[in-house]
Amino acid sequence: MAEQNQTKDLELLENSTVKKLVISDEFMTPSQIVSRLDKYIIGQQDAKKAVAIALRNRLRRQHVSDDLRDEIMPNNIILIGPTGVGKTEIARRLAKLANAPFVKVEASKFTEVGYVGRDVESMIRDLTDQAVSMVRSEKSEEVKEKAALLAEERLLDILLPPVPGSAYDSDNDDEEITSTEEASDADLEKAVNRKSREKMLERLRSGRMEDRQIEMELSSDSQGGMMQIFGPMGQMEELGGLMQDLMSGLPKKRKNRRVTIAEARKLLEQEEVQKLIDMDAVIKEAVKKVEESGIVFIDEIDKIAAPTTGSGGKGPDVSREGVQRDLLPIVEGSNVATKHGMVKTDHVLFIASGAFHVAKPSDLIPELQGRFPIRVELKSLTEEDFYKILTQPKNALIKQYKALLMTEGVTLEFSDDAIVEIAAIAAQVNESVENIGARRLHTIMTNLLEELMFSIPEQHSNEKIDIDKSMVNDKLSKIITDRDLSQYIL
Ligand SMILES: Nc1ncnc2c1ncn2[C@@H]1O[C@H](COP(=O)(O)OP(=O)(O)OP(=O)(O)O)[C@@H](O)[C@H]1O
Ligand SMILES: [Mg+2]
Repeated sequence: MAEQNQTKDLELLENSTVKKLVISDEFMTPSQIVSRLDKYIIGQQDAKKAVAIALRNRLRRQHVSDDLRDEIMPNNIILIGPTGVGKTEIARRLAKLANAPFVKVEASKFTEVGYVGRDVESMIRDLTDQAVSMVRSEKSEEVKEKAALLAEERLLDILLPPVPGSAYDSDNDDEEITSTEEASDADLEKAVNRKSREKMLERLRSGRMEDRQIEMELSSDSQGGMMQIFGPMGQMEELGGLMQDLMSGLPKKRKNRRVTIAEARKLLEQEEVQKLIDMDAVIKEAVKKVEESGIVFIDEIDKIAAPTTGSGGKGPDVSREGVQRDLLPIVEGSNVATKHGMVKTDHVLFIASGAFHVAKPSDLIPELQGRFPIRVELKSLTEEDFYKILTQPKNALIKQYKALLMTEGVTLEFSDDAIVEIAAIAAQVNESVENIGARRLHTIMTNLLEELMFSIPEQHSNEKIDIDKSMVNDKLSKIITDRDLSQYIL
């Protein structure tokens, strides 16, 4: 009997997971995700694997049938590790390569419901805003060319106002001019009009007229005159959104302004883009994007965990625990009201992070611990890691500096032993002063190259500059050996 039940269960399971995932370019497999992350982040393989699995599991979960789906816990993650080792960077890159809406929030900025400060739901409102602007700029990109053509037409209308009753006043501008013997006056006028528009268009496109001033009518919000409401509280933000919605319903004030043709083209293109985009569709798509692929990064989660004081000291801080309780429904899955409508958080991926020096993940309230089942520890970075971070990532610091100076016609070359030395110094200062992880590389590089950055372009234009080990030591040894100095400078 029991056996029969089991086969039945299995059948049910098999029948219910019919929507099989196929390997496609749209959704990366975990190993693809890790290898993409490898291009930017050195080491931290455990963390990369965990986020890759979590991202894929969300997709898998979305494909499971309804009844079972709700039973499957989301794969929220806590990244544990010292400062500057890549926690935020991993989450940010993950979001970027998944083309997912992403917000980073500091857990310590939130306060319990009923207290003054940001309420936790604001993270979902921010995420939705972010998604709306993502989708809007995608859509703008799609209609950009069309908008440019329409803007050009409007520029021509300003430069050569259409004569009432002429061809360009009506819709039939594409009509061929029939060259019968008795061409009417109107036809002639059309031909002349068309000719001058063509001429003008040619001049416009040649770029010779860009600085010419024209007068044009602008709607006031295309000049960025939108009213802004600032407020510390969530309620105020919502009020701001409401006000803006109300305002956008009002007839737009239009006024005349003198601008150059270059400016006019930009403004007209913006207006045309706005007209071509269907904002309702944008919002619908954005909300879907948040619900299916949003990622919230909650930084400093350890700051809202109550550290257990050894000798049974003070109990957990009420407000911090309150924030954790407020977080529960959002992380678990609930509806959050935003100015773009209700947003379901069931499939939003939450990645929390913290150093957990004082508090431990086990100091979080049990319910919240359960919502973040995956814990990954990130390791401190070593000298060898620093060497790789300086050179390998697509956005490696050395590549950045080279690119900066390339714009001045200067070629910057680092010898290998110079890079080894910089990595060694970074590791040394991290040990002697304070371990700030890879951020140390930034401070060291700015110090090393400061003079150079200042003296270019007057000196050294169009030449090659070599940075070698002795130069690194010349510039930095004095600072490193003087502990006080390095505390302030590096
Ligand atoms: N493993 C790494 N590989 C490449 N770059 C890294 C790595 N770790 C850190 N970095 C660089 O160091 C900087 C800081 O890293 P990140 O913001 O991820 O720190 P964090 O771990 O979130 O620290 P915090 O706890 O202070 O928030 C980033 O700009 C990133 O480019
Ligand atoms: Mg961080």
